[in-house]
Amino acid sequence: PHKAIKKICCIGAGYVGGPTCATIALKCPHIDVTIVDLNQARIDAWNSDNLPIYEPGLDEVVKTARNRNLFFSTDVDKAIIEADLIFVSVNTPTKKSGVGKGYAADLGYVESATRHIAKVATSDKIVVEKSTVPCRTAASMRKILEANGKAGLRFDILSNPEFLAEGTAVKDLDAPDRVLIGSLDTASGFAAASSLVDVYANWVPRERVITMNVWSSELSKLAANALLAQRISSINALSAICEATGADVDEVAYAVGLDSRIGPKFLKASVGFGGSCFQKDILNLVYLSESLHLPDVAEYWRQVVAMNESQKRRFTEHIISSLFNTITNKRIAVLGFAFKKDTGDTRESSAITIIKYLRAEQAKVAIYDPKVEESQIWFDLAEPGIVDDVTALKKQVSISSSAYEAAAGADAVVICTEWDEFKDTNLDYEKIYASMNKPAFIFDGRLILNQNKLEKIGFKVECIGRSRLEETFE
Ligand code: UDX
Ligand code: UDX
Ligand code: ADP
Repeated sequence: PHKAIKKICCIGAGYVGGPTCATIALKCPHIDVTIVDLNQARIDAWNSDNLPIYEPGLDEVVKTARNRNLFFSTDVDKAIIEADLIFVSVNTPTKKSGVGKGYAADLGYVESATRHIAKVATSDKIVVEKSTVPCRTAASMRKILEANGKAGLRFDILSNPEFLAEGTAVKDLDAPDRVLIGSLDTASGFAAASSLVDVYANWVPRERVITMNVWSSELSKLAANALLAQRISSINALSAICEATGADVDEVAYAVGLDSRIGPKFLKASVGFGGSCFQKDILNLVYLSESLHLPDVAEYWRQVVAMNESQKRRFTEHIISSLFNTITNKRIAVLGFAFKKDTGDTRESSAITIIKYLRAEQAKVAIYDPKVEESQIWFDLAEPGIVDDVTALKKQVSISSSAYEAAAGADAVVICTEWDEFKDTNLDYEKIYASMNKPAFIFDGRLILNQNKLEKIGFKVECIGRSRLEETFE
């Protein structure tokens, strides 16, 4: 017999905790869900008409459930005391200093949330790792809870990694490929897992809710992200070969993707992957491998990130060489700053690195993104610690309110994010062409444009993974 969950607390109202627990509240009207955060501004935003994150469909989910059985609060203690089950969805950034700097995950937020639970809990709790954590974090959480919790209380730890992707979070949560629940191989571990299975069973087909041991569950999350990122680095590596040979990377991806053993998804060549997960999780895996004295394994995964960096560099070098080897004082319009379409998130976005390279060449960069806030762009481009960098930055970089404004007077348009708005069926490229310096270049870093159509307008079009200019064969 296992406990029926009546009240859930989610610690951390970010990209993961917010949408995930809002969906649970929507699908389980009989469960009260309270999402808490230390950040008052973030909680205020969740309680307003202007949610702190942009996700298609999320407004509706939140509006339906909010103040019915979904609550956002900064009263962390109260929510912990009342809950049967607590999701820990706090941030786990890569460490910036100390042991494992640049690779290991900083578990400070997970630890402090865990200590907080131990301190205030007055009844048994199921504590669920939702944040992506290194393998074996559950063991540390259990030790902290047992050493600090009140005598006689039982804490069961579950791992329940989140696989949602940004931009499609609501869809992914509504119909997940699978839900993973890891527990200890003990009677109370299995009972806790069953309680959480029941929550998801309210809307997820039972056969898609998978239970397994807690270490497999933790590692599966890192493994999934590492394999997805590895596919992108593999196709990007092939894109470099395509450019040099006359093969077309979209055709190659299509051809290999038809092999059912390979499959068609995550084979789109690009300016490189970004986002808060891929790089972080791979570096995490590299660190784990090194700690386990597996240097060859570490090196294998490290290469996925190295390839990604190389892709951004290669793309920028091609822009410079095409523009007659100098972009000093030339206006370059960068379309897209988010790490992918349909999100305002810029974490690890390739656009940031590419713009830094363009700046180093003294170009004038005009940026347009449909969703990213201006303040975020300035924040991402400023080098922390360099006094006056913002003044220098603003002399070189401007933010435009439309693609047309960014392109006016530019020598080149560079597509960094695959927003639908930038497709040649949605933007008036004749108008853009007329407003640009000639020869007018377009660098398609996302393969969203019809090259022939744009060449007919007069553009010089350069695409990732397609052979360079006609002279290759002349
Ligand atoms: C391969 C390709 O599958 C085929 O499409 C191509 O035309 C020729 O090369 P083959 O080498 O005959 O075919 O066998 P395959 O089934 O691909 O296995 C290759 C090796 O990989 C074998 O040693 C196999 O044992 C190993 N393998 C395969 C694994 O270790 N794990 C797997 O999951 C799959
Ligand atoms: C990823 C995983 O997909 C998700 O399961 C996990 O929970 C979190 O990490 P996310 O980072 O939100 O999700 O987005 P994703 O769609 O995976 O894209 C990551 C990056 O890869 C983006 O920059 C995207 O543009 C790029 N990408 C993706 C490609 O360059 N080519 C592709 O074929 C797919
Ligand atoms: P993710 O992408 O993993 O969801 P975010 O950074 O978007 O990460 O969200 C994590 C949230 O967790 C932040 O809003 C942060 O303020 C919150 N947080 C971190 N530590 C605690 C804590 N101990 N108690 C409550 N909230 C916390």
